[in-house]
Amino acid sequence: MITLGIESSCDETSIAIIENDRKILANIISTQIPIHQKFGGVVPEIASRKHIVNIMPVLDEALNKAQLKLSAIDQIAVAYGPGLVGALLVGVSAAKALAFSLDVPLLAVNHLEGHIFANFLSHPDLEPPFIALVVSGGHTALVNMTDYNSFSMIGQTRDDAAGEAFDKVARLLGLPYPGGPQIDKLAKTGNPHAIDFPHALIKEKNYEFSFSGLKSAVINYIHTADQKGLSINKADVAASFQKTVIDILVHKTIMAARSTGMKTIVLAGGVAANSLLEQKLTEKCRENDLAFYFPSKILCTDNAAMIACRGYYQSLTGNFADMKLNAVPYLEL
Ligand code: KG4
Ligand code: ZN
Repeated sequence: MITLGIESSCDETSIAIIENDRKILANIISTQIPIHQKFGGVVPEIASRKHIVNIMPVLDEALNKAQLKLSAIDQIAVAYGPGLVGALLVGVSAAKALAFSLDVPLLAVNHLEGHIFANFLSHPDLEPPFIALVVSGGHTALVNMTDYNSFSMIGQTRDDAAGEAFDKVARLLGLPYPGGPQIDKLAKTGNPHAIDFPHALIKEKNYEFSFSGLKSAVINYIHTADQKGLSINKADVAASFQKTVIDILVHKTIMAARSTGMKTIVLAGGVAANSLLEQKLTEKCRENDLAFYFPSKILCTDNAAMIACRGYYQSLTGNFADMKLNAVPYLEL
């Protein structure tokens, strides 16, 4: 079974081809990061236009890499939400055109579920059930995954997503977009105990997160220093901020596994590439006798292989889409 996956929810145009459940034949990712960098973040209109320009060359490159012709494709999986509506529509339209012209089934994939499935591509032995921590630019959620097609969200952020907080704090520190990798790098040279930022909701016995107060605390810290004519140590701010976010994420994830009795934790989404998050979750899972999985770096960020993988498992239940499929920018898990 050959599944072609399409991803265009934000600033990466990606097309992948996988064989059966987990064998990647091609995973082409064309990133727009350098284009959006000069604006300090993703400009939705530009993103849509670039997807239109990129999608056919990316398709050709994927077919070349997999050494396949279009006629070899058995089904098409596309991310139809959540994401930027104009960006999603490019992928959805391309997927519908391909499915119609090739007369093959179409699968509508939730982008967030796709992030979780990136782990199956990186780890052939991984199987549900597990607790997944999904941390991306738009979402922060704890998901109880009991089977390949059964998910329940057990908690999410009340305001900013973890990646969004990284991006906003990076901007305050004058670092380029996307801020997560920049903070990750700068934090390595700073003291994570230098500044005591608030750990919102960490004592609450629920699985909710809140990062907007932390972002305000960083703004206040910078403004206060500015008013006093003091210079700040950016590396200390980055390290202290990062430690606060990671403390909260790790604490709630371990709590979720313990209270549900799950023995495995899986990390997913762009922030899964954060080195401190991987390190702390590895340590805490070892202490708590839990198995821990995270995707390879290339599969952490937005890519179509994870969409194709999710689509493959979805196809086993017969959950196909039709030509009425539309983009759903605020799609929930
Ligand atoms: O999953 P993703 O590629 O796109 C969305 O679906 O949102 O996630 C992008 C987010 C950005 O906010 C980016 O700053 C963050 O992931 N990110 C990181 C790291 N690498 C990417 N955050 C923290 N540390 C990193 N190393
Ligand atoms: Zn994503």
